[in-house]
Amino acid sequence: MKVINTIKELRQGLKKERQAGRTIGLVPTMGYFHEGHLELMRRAREECDVVVVSLYVNPTQFAPSEDFESYPRDFERDKKFAENVGADYLFCPSNAEIYLPNHLTYVEVEKITKRLCGASRPHHFQGVTTIVAKLFNIVMPDKAYFGQKDAQQVVVIKKMVDDLNFDLEIVVVPTVREEDDLAMSSRNTYLSDAERVEALVLSESLQHAKRLIDSGERIAQKIKDEMQELIESKPQVNLEYISICDNRTLEELSRVQGETLIALAAKVGKARLIDNIVIKM
Ligand code: PAF
Repeated sequence: MKVINTIKELRQGLKKERQAGRTIGLVPTMGYFHEGHLELMRRAREECDVVVVSLYVNPTQFAPSEDFESYPRDFERDKKFAENVGADYLFCPSNAEIYLPNHLTYVEVEKITKRLCGASRPHHFQGVTTIVAKLFNIVMPDKAYFGQKDAQQVVVIKKMVDDLNFDLEIVVVPTVREEDDLAMSSRNTYLSDAERVEALVLSESLQHAKRLIDSGERIAQKIKDEMQELIESKPQVNLEYISICDNRTLEELSRVQGETLIALAAKVGKARLIDNIVIKM
């Protein structure tokens, strides 16, 4: 596996791969790998000739009050993981390499970035789409891999790809969970033992919603109310939102229908956690 820090060097390497007719898969990450990231890499390994993993904690997707400085980082550990999974290139640029001092250009997907997580993180998705668009331009992958855990991110990136005619396929990989069903996240490392136990209510509330729907409930507000009651029974879990929405437009639904996304966010101690399920009717 080649570890590369500059755009120029990565482009030179990938140009040769493309000329040799090899397909390229990109796995964009912010590092501190867990099974969720490794699953994205394994899928890329299965489907593409060349696997590029980018490791870059992107400052523009964090608000000043958020955890950019303290976001977990462990380069040596990540390097071993990526190598073991069979990545070909690990691209770890510096901030100066990615954002020139006179950087003025941002990619903004409207409307759907203001809902769900966008309500409390108004600039977050602009940072995500900007770095992802830059990575697509740098790597020019045939396929790029994202986790369903970040459901809104997936919807926003697919919209950007359609609207701006990026020539690649977005592959969405199911959420990887711990044995007790907690969705894997680099931010789980912030949880104390007691907080981690209470955080299980998030996936439990989603499973409860699924059971209600399986037994015939369709009214979104009733489902949200029961989920909220469950979550509020855990004092260390501070619910930010529950959304029951269309999985393409992210518009809130009054009744569960079509492809429905049930998504939530909550603060548990220092960690802001998200989780979701998709119900296909
Ligand atoms: O999902 C993430 O880790 C990040 O939002 C991404 C896609 C790597 C962009 O920084």
